[in-house]
Formats: sequence, structure tokens, C-alpha cells
Amino acid sequence: MKIALLGEPGSGKGTQAKSLAKKYGFPHISTGDIFRKEIAGNTDLGLQVEEYVKSGRLVPDELTFKIVSQRLEFNDCTRGFFLDGFPRTVEQAETLSAKLTQEKRPLDKVLYLQMTEEEVVKRLSSRRECDKCRRIYNLISQPPQTPDVCDLDNGKLVQREDDVPETIKKRLVVFANLTEPLISYYRGEGVLETINGDRPIEEVSKDIYGILDPLKK
Ligand code: AP5
Repeated sequence: MKIALLGEPGSGKGTQAKSLAKKYGFPHISTGDIFRKEIAGNTDLGLQVEEYVKSGRLVPDELTFKIVSQRLEFNDCTRGFFLDGFPRTVEQAETLSAKLTQEKRPLDKVLYLQMTEEEVVKRLSSRRECDKCRRIYNLISQPPQTPDVCDLDNGKLVQREDDVPETIKKRLVVFANLTEPLISYYRGEGVLETINGDRPIEEVSKDIYGILDPLKK
């Protein structure tokens, strides 16, 4: 099951991809999570990407593709994977397609989580994550039991640096200019599935299961 999740910032790609990975048993590969981990660890890669991620700009295609390409070589990806936040430009999509076609394992589906911009801004402004385990919360739709404290490990709930109004606006412009063209790209490839992401998490998941269950072998 080779799947990519596509959608505006805050459309729920990470939330869905995490639970899909558990349900179907394939790895969740989030370029955003990889970059944030490298930044937190002060690694060379982290230093290279920090300014891009914090300001809401895209990390250059070549560097991003290299990271994903290396991850896809791991044994746990042989039978399937859930790509979250990659590809994000037509160039990334074309390079990925060339690699996967050559390896005879093309993408089965691209799940596009469609949202209104207004709802996306609300979700991102109210998102919090645990500073230890990185579990995602939402002050409106998925609040923790105790304010500001993670239900799982008592970690502190923090706001992502790119979830502030100015950077959210910038990320939405980047999506419109560079990522939205992927919708018609993947429609043309015959693998696009559009899902209304503007509904409760469980309802969105149910639609996705309806698309993915028939792919189980
Ligand atoms: P990345 O981490 O990928 O950010 P993003 O695409 O902007 O997506 P988000 O993580 O903000 O949102 P999401 O769709 O995963 O939503 P979530 O599930 O968290 O990338 C960050 C940065 O890294 C980029 O700006 C760029 O700099 C760099 N980068 C990453 N990939 C790159 C690439 N390929 N090329 C170049 N640069 C790259 O949900 C959001 C909130 O809503 C949460 O609080 C959640 O609890 C809540 N929620 C989720 N679903 C629902 C629902 N159905 N109903 C109500 N609330 C919900």
C-alpha cells in the first residue's frame, strides 16, 4: 500500500497518517516531523533546514528528495508506506514518480484532504503538541484532560513555531502556489482521491478506510 497524503497545512494529514500507519502496519513518513527532529537535535541537516521550516518556506527540492529517498530504502518500506507532506511541488512529485516507477512500486493512491482556508487557520492556531512524545492535540477538537499537559507522559504542550498567524498565512500562500498544482497532476495520473477533511476525525478516517481497504492483499 503506497500512499501519499496531500492537503493544506492543518488539513489533518499527520493525524490521519499516524492512525493509518497503525491500522495497516506501514510506516508513517512525515518530512515535517523529520525536519523538526533534526532541528531539535541541532544536527547538520537541522541547521540547514531550520530557517526554511521556521519561516514557513519550503526546504529545497533536492535536499528534501534526498532525505525521503533514503528513508524509502529502509526494509520497512518495501511493501508500503504513508507519505505525509511529501511530495509538495511538481518537481518533487516527478522525481518521486521516476524513482518509484523504476523500482516497480508506484503510488497506489494520493489522498487529498480538502479544507476551507478559514477552518485550516482555526485548526492551526489551536494546535498544540507534547514537547516529549510529540502527540498532537487541539484546544478545540482534541483537548488534553488537563490544560497544557500531555495525557500520555505529563509533557508540556507547546505551540509549533510556524503556527503563529504571520507564518500560517505564508504557509497557505506557499501551498496555493507550489503544492496545489499537484491536485491536477495526480488527477491526471489517475490516483487522486478527494476527501472532505472538514469533518470530525473519525468520519474522515472512515472515508479513507473505504478507499484503502480494497488495496489490502
Ligand atoms: P509539515 O509538518 O508537513 O506541515 P504542514 O503540511 O503545514 O502540515 P501540518 O503538520 O501543519 O498539518 P497537518 O495537515 O499534518 O494537520 P494535523 O494532523 O497536525 O511541514 C512543516 C514545514 O517543513 C514546511 O512548512 C516546510 O518548511 C518543511 N517541509 C515539510 N515537508 C516538505 C517538503 N516536502 N518539501 C519542502 N519543505 C517541506 O492537524 C492540525 C490540527 O487540527 C491538530 O491540532 C489536530 O488535532 C486537528 N485536527 C486534525 N484533523 C481534524 C479534524 N478532522 N477535525 C478537527 N480537528 C482536526
